[in-house]
Amino acid sequence: MIRFIDELEFNGKRLFLRVDFNVPLDEKLEITDDNRIRAALPTITYALDKGARLIVASHLGRPKGKRVPEFSLAPVARRLSLLVGRQVTMAPDCVGPEVEQMADGLEPGQVLMLENLRFHREETDNDPQFASALSVLCDVYVNDAFAVSHRAHASVVGVPERVDACGAGFLMKNEITYFEKAMKEPERPFLAILGGAKVSSKLGAIENILRRVDGLVIGGAMANTFLLAMGYSVGRSMLEEDLVDTAKEIMKRAEASGTGLYLPVDAVVAESLRPGVSCREVSVDEIPEDAMILDIGPRTTDIFVQEIKKARTIVWNGPMGAFETEPFDKGTVEIARAVGSSGALSIIGGGDTGAAVKKAGESDNVSYISTGGGAFLTLLEGKELPGFKALEKCGGSQGGN
Ligand code: 3PG
Repeated sequence: MIRFIDELEFNGKRLFLRVDFNVPLDEKLEITDDNRIRAALPTITYALDKGARLIVASHLGRPKGKRVPEFSLAPVARRLSLLVGRQVTMAPDCVGPEVEQMADGLEPGQVLMLENLRFHREETDNDPQFASALSVLCDVYVNDAFAVSHRAHASVVGVPERVDACGAGFLMKNEITYFEKAMKEPERPFLAILGGAKVSSKLGAIENILRRVDGLVIGGAMANTFLLAMGYSVGRSMLEEDLVDTAKEIMKRAEASGTGLYLPVDAVVAESLRPGVSCREVSVDEIPEDAMILDIGPRTTDIFVQEIKKARTIVWNGPMGAFETEPFDKGTVEIARAVGSSGALSIIGGGDTGAAVKKAGESDNVSYISTGGGAFLTLLEGKELPGFKALEKCGGSQGGN
């Protein structure tokens, strides 16, 4: 059983809070989307109000064990300071005597932000000595970093093994609650919408979800492989030819189990992916040899929208087309609108899908937008997240304070 932060006692104690502040930065190192920081605020505010001496730890990007200035968490510490309305001191590193001293010197209600954990390769290697060096900084460990909980990294699994008390934050609680609501006892019909570039990255999710849903909608470039499997030519569209047999197998399984499988019947095609490029709508049996499929067409959108309207539970991961580039955002935006107005329990996963829902102005109309990309997909695959497992163990024998 995972314990949550409101079941832990940490007044006056050093609390190590693992968050996922892996946020996008522009070339001036300014944060372009601070959702992941805002999502951790309930936990941070609660911890500070309850007298924690707070140590915030995160990764940013993939600096591969090197100190890369562009991946410093300093801009994130500044944004966090603005959002919590108190000073956030930036540590020069995440381990070592100087950082230990800074952590020891914290007063209740003060915040120390550690430098990027991935400046040390030992973080991603889950090196035991590195995990110990992190764990000596604290008395209590809380994980609110859902988006990285699919990684067995030192700060995700190594630290909770080494502290006496640990638990999950409120963001983790939300993520678990919504996901379980959808997957364990879904109100039916239960519809999954999968999109994005590759079948290969969603294969595990398709296999697991096909057993649970009443309908599966497939859009985005990953649908192209299915179209090829059905005998259509897809021109110069992105596809994975080596997965054509797998796509056939999936279609057979859906048919055998009576699960509705909804694939594009028309598409928006163009010569290349450029903003404002001339494009046209064609049926899937007339994709020109020199064209690329860049969005679902209007007839497909209608079919998908009808299924969305019937559904009582919806899980959506992956856009329907190249939605970052207009005019190929249309299909994804229409699907976002339909999900937003469906009245169904709707869970959105993956950074791109969340961004698409935001672009469509539907963020407040869907039930939940997960902060996880890979972590959300791992849950859809039916696998347990290493970060959850570590907290379960800790909550058992050594969870008390
Ligand atoms: C994410 O952005 O999905 C998480 O922060 C995990 O990042 P990673 O894929 O680099 O481990």
